[in-house]
Amino acid sequence: MNNKNIREAAQIIKNGGLVAFPTETVYGLGANALNPFAVAKIFELKERPSFDPLIVHIASFDDLKILSTGVTDNVMRLAKYFWPGPLTIVLPKSQLVPDIVTSGLNTVGIRMPNNAIALELIKESKCPIAAPSANKFGQLSPVNAQHVKKQLPNVDYVLDGGHTTVGIESTIVSIEGDICQLLRPGFITLEDIEEALPNTFVFNHTKPEKLVSPGLLKSHYSPQKPLYILKDPFGNIPETSGLILHRNDHSIYSVSKVIYTSQNCNKIEISSNLFAALHAMEEDKNVKSIYIEAVEEVGLGIAIMDRVNKAAYQYIKPTN
Ligand code: TXA
Ligand code: MG
Repeated sequence: MNNKNIREAAQIIKNGGLVAFPTETVYGLGANALNPFAVAKIFELKERPSFDPLIVHIASFDDLKILSTGVTDNVMRLAKYFWPGPLTIVLPKSQLVPDIVTSGLNTVGIRMPNNAIALELIKESKCPIAAPSANKFGQLSPVNAQHVKKQLPNVDYVLDGGHTTVGIESTIVSIEGDICQLLRPGFITLEDIEEALPNTFVFNHTKPEKLVSPGLLKSHYSPQKPLYILKDPFGNIPETSGLILHRNDHSIYSVSKVIYTSQNCNKIEISSNLFAALHAMEEDKNVKSIYIEAVEEVGLGIAIMDRVNKAAYQYIKPTN
């Protein structure tokens, strides 16, 4: 990875092509956000339904004002507090943003990623970059370049920035006046946002009656084999399964494969390693089904269990 790679990638963006690139959260599949034909290719390659809007990635605060007509003092405060970083802010869109980016909504999700390659790519491309996670719709999010190539072998260019650090997608909020709604939990927690906006009412809207953010679909982020969530104590686990644990208690398990996301249930490590562990289990031919330990749903545990629950959703047996 060097500046020449970034210049080549930027040229592809300028020509209306697609570039997969690292961010601090997961890899994105990027196109010039102001070119509706280029953006259409994202939906095609990802097989993503057109009702699911994209996040626009920027590298300067000036771009925020160009893309949105609703940049209030409160919005600026939130952006300056967390950017560059894993926070997406949903705001009223300006006329410059093509409808295909926002799936016809009059709002646009904007974020400034905290990754040097991503920021350089945006600057070098001289345009904001629309990018969903670089995976097929509904499948596991990619946290390294190999994960991208596995699902999207036909992407025009992949910028390889190694393993991402945060490992789960950005927190999404919308903000209107003095009300800030959490639309998708992520690395930045509700408590972090309350700290940044002490005079704003911040509330959790991640269990909406109505679909506010299509990323809130119940099933999402799924591996290509059955995934089950383990409740304590571990019950009967088949020998052909893969086991994902978040602490190493030195027990011996008679299963095909064991992966530890952390040695001591450190939630930052768990979120960073979660998707890589699921990808490794998906790729291992000896693993027929995957079992994953649950995490306590507080702080960052809320975002971790959001991804785990959605990944396992189709395999959760109804209980009464
Ligand atoms: O960390 C991330 O956010 C990664 C990296 C690449 O930046 N991107 C990402 O994109 O996770 P994607 O497309 O996989 O998820 C974006 C979510 C979607 O569920 C979409 O519905 C929601 O953001 N979203 C985008 N624009 C929105 C809007 N105007 N209103 C509500 N939700 C929106
Ligand atoms: Mg995604």
